[in-house]
Amino acid sequence: MRILLFTGKGGVGKSTVAAGTAALAAAAGHRTLVLSTDAAHSLADAFGTPVGAEPTRVADNLYVQQVDAQLRFEQSWAEIQGYLLSVLDTTAMDPVAAEELTVIPGAEEVLALLELRLHALSDDWDLIVVDCAPTAETLRLLALPEALGWYMQRVFPVQQRVVKALRPVLSRAAGVPMPGGGVFEAVERLHAELDEVRALLSGPDASVRIVLTPEAVVLAEARRAYTTLSLFGYRVDGVVANRVFPADGADDWRAGWVLAQDEVLGQVEESFAGVPLWRSEYRASEPVGVAALATLAGDLYGETDPVATSGVRGPFEVVSVRSGVQLRLRLPFVTRDEVDLARSGDELVVTVGSYRRLLTLPTGLARLQVAGARVDDEGVLRVSFKEHSAKERVG
Ligand SMILES: Nc1ncnc2c1ncn2[C@@H]1O[C@H](COP(=O)(O)OP(=O)(O)OP(=O)(O)O)[C@@H](O)[C@H]1O
Ligand SMILES: [Mg+2]
Repeated sequence: MRILLFTGKGGVGKSTVAAGTAALAAAAGHRTLVLSTDAAHSLADAFGTPVGAEPTRVADNLYVQQVDAQLRFEQSWAEIQGYLLSVLDTTAMDPVAAEELTVIPGAEEVLALLELRLHALSDDWDLIVVDCAPTAETLRLLALPEALGWYMQRVFPVQQRVVKALRPVLSRAAGVPMPGGGVFEAVERLHAELDEVRALLSGPDASVRIVLTPEAVVLAEARRAYTTLSLFGYRVDGVVANRVFPADGADDWRAGWVLAQDEVLGQVEESFAGVPLWRSEYRASEPVGVAALATLAGDLYGETDPVATSGVRGPFEVVSVRSGVQLRLRLPFVTRDEVDLARSGDELVVTVGSYRRLLTLPTGLARLQVAGARVDDEGVLRVSFKEHSAKERVG
């Protein structure tokens, strides 16, 4: 089962390309679901047909669903969500946690992830295509499982202890919200489920494709997205340059655009060297409906199988080196002084710009000592680990 996520700046053609990719894959016989995490119901517009909150069939092998956060929320998660938000508000309880938490979850995002998990486990699909919201929200979404997992590990045990010991006092005095019965179990379950989502999305069968139009501002955002996606461990296995002006028969006005786009396309190639770049022409009309979408995707991918894993490696690796073990995290475009690194127990805290990842170290590494860290010329963060020396172990 494959999972393909499409993201990019607002309006560049994410929904169109996601829907087209799905239509093409379905026509090739893959049981395909396109899922939108966006509150704007643009998949229905792209397919030119009403789409519901349950998978709606639009062609052979092709189903479309727009996750209705409101509905799901009312169905099952209202109690937990309400409680989570109140806990997140009670930051006075744990100032360290409050400071470390860089992502505050939104109900819609959590629900979209849970919906994705259910489908991924269901055995109903060969391919799930996720039409994501514009970049910033997508990054928030993809950072969520890890951040929330971290948060729950830290805050909930504390809450649980506090609740047991001080329930009568606290509920009267401090205004700390008291969870109702069953909330802790529900929270545990949510934690486990989000962990599964994280494993799915950073695993070998999932990848992210960045959609852009050949314009300088759009490219700048795409580059930042590439860095941040890598920081969170997501594999980018393709870039789609959409709405490329065709060169033939151009008048002066269009010829100007063709030249300008050519220059940016050159920069796109340089920026994403090693990642496949696919191009899609600016069509004379909006590609709407299964047939038009499949044609667009057919032209886009050409001979390439849109579903295949491209062989692009993920950004995260643990390798044995002579001096011990090295953790490598590829952070495209990042230089030494932009990365901040700290170790806290079993975690590495990696900060790049305004994004911070709390990377839980694999068990093999957690017991080792950080021997050094650097960012090489290719933007790879290399953290070296070695055994604790005998003296330290005793002392
Ligand atoms: N190659 C193309 N040629 C012509 N029109 C296109 C092309 N790709 C997309 N469009 C049109 O551009 C508009 C925006 O596309 P789309 O909705 O797919 O963008 P989006 O990135 O999903 O936007 P949003 O950020 O709002 O979700 C739509 O009207 C779509 O039909
Ligand atoms: Mg869209």
